[in-house]
Amino acid sequence: MTESEKPLVLMVLYAGDEHARQEPRLLGCVENELGIRSFIESRGYRLITTDSKAPEPESTFDKYLPEAEIVITTPFYPAYLDASRVEAAKKLKLCITAGVGSDNYDLDALNKRKIPVLEVTGSNVGSVAEHAVMTMLILLRNYNEGHYQATSGGWDIAAVAKDEFDIEDKVIASVGAGRIGQRIFERLIAFNPKKLLYYDYQPLHESVVDKLNAASKLFNGVDNIIERVDNLDDLFAQADVVTLNCPLYEKSKGMVNSELISRMKRGSYLVNTARGALTVPDDVAAAVEDGHIAYGGDVWPEEPAPIKMPWRYMHNPYGPAYGNAMTIHTSGTSLDDQARYSYGVKQILTQYFDKTYDYRPQDIIIIDGEYATKSYGQRK
Ligand code: NAI
Repeated sequence: MTESEKPLVLMVLYAGDEHARQEPRLLGCVENELGIRSFIESRGYRLITTDSKAPEPESTFDKYLPEAEIVITTPFYPAYLDASRVEAAKKLKLCITAGVGSDNYDLDALNKRKIPVLEVTGSNVGSVAEHAVMTMLILLRNYNEGHYQATSGGWDIAAVAKDEFDIEDKVIASVGAGRIGQRIFERLIAFNPKKLLYYDYQPLHESVVDKLNAASKLFNGVDNIIERVDNLDDLFAQADVVTLNCPLYEKSKGMVNSELISRMKRGSYLVNTARGALTVPDDVAAAVEDGHIAYGGDVWPEEPAPIKMPWRYMHNPYGPAYGNAMTIHTSGTSLDDQARYSYGVKQILTQYFDKTYDYRPQDIIIIDGEYATKSYGQRK
């Protein structure tokens, strides 16, 4: 078999450039290819890795897609496999997300062709929980203004303190209480919040509720810290801080709009480390500019975010950016995460190459033309 006749694994990752040369543990980039090139080649496949993914015919992704048997990408620099690209991918048999969250794939179009999508569930959930709590702290502590004063020669205590609060004694609400939502709650107990609320069509397991309540009682002397709220309007109205922790799919897209934001208390906080398109971006930007809410997180409706995307400029882009704690999509791609999701991708490929298809059930998003996960809406 000639090289070009070998089946193709097509991988879309971000460019590592000099950072890849400096840090070999930076596995999630084009240069280091999740550390699995020799493994893939040893199994008789060829591998093409690219960061060229723009939706135009000349992108490397589009050029090789018709030949690809397997597509691998990350949520941090996602290849968007929409219905027309699914149509173009005539030889496609498997899609893998190196990380968590497979909304970049048109799952319904893939289901029609019975092409499975797998991800490395749990690989970065602790990391994202840390980032969400950090974002709350940055916003509530008015960190940006204080940091700006420190590094620009200022000493205006009042400018910082007039917008500085504590997590202690606040009501924190999560939309979605899966792996990340639960971990955020666990970490927040240490801050002695007033109440932890959640909205999810799947109730938290009793053992999780008992654990959170027991930790709150032990550390803070507060009983029954956790409470389920059965509609979003009430959740948003009661909260001082709302954190989004559910997947993006057709029913959750644009869920946080101006109507829902208007239920939030003036001066409250919205933290989104789940997916940018869970919100209506212009509605969020308008509420931040108006001072109704402060907003932070690391996920954007389109990634990389266009240079003119308003979230880049909410509140004083050249000063402290009060009320804006956005970063680029990095919360789930620490070096620790990269080791975990690279290993997970290799495991999935091993089961595919060996034809055992003995995947971890929690990694399967769709298979055999059906949704396998309960997390993408109430399908099952
Ligand atoms: P998970 O599957 O463990 O939990 C998701 C929870 O959301 C489930 O309990 C599900 O019932 C609930 N849910 C689904 N639709 C909902 C809705 N419309 N309203 C309320 N709850 C709903 O997933 P996990 O690991 O907690 O991740 C959640 C999301 O976070 C992922 O789908 C992904 O989009 C995002 N994520 C972001 C990362 C980052 O780097 N910023 C990294 C990892 C995940």
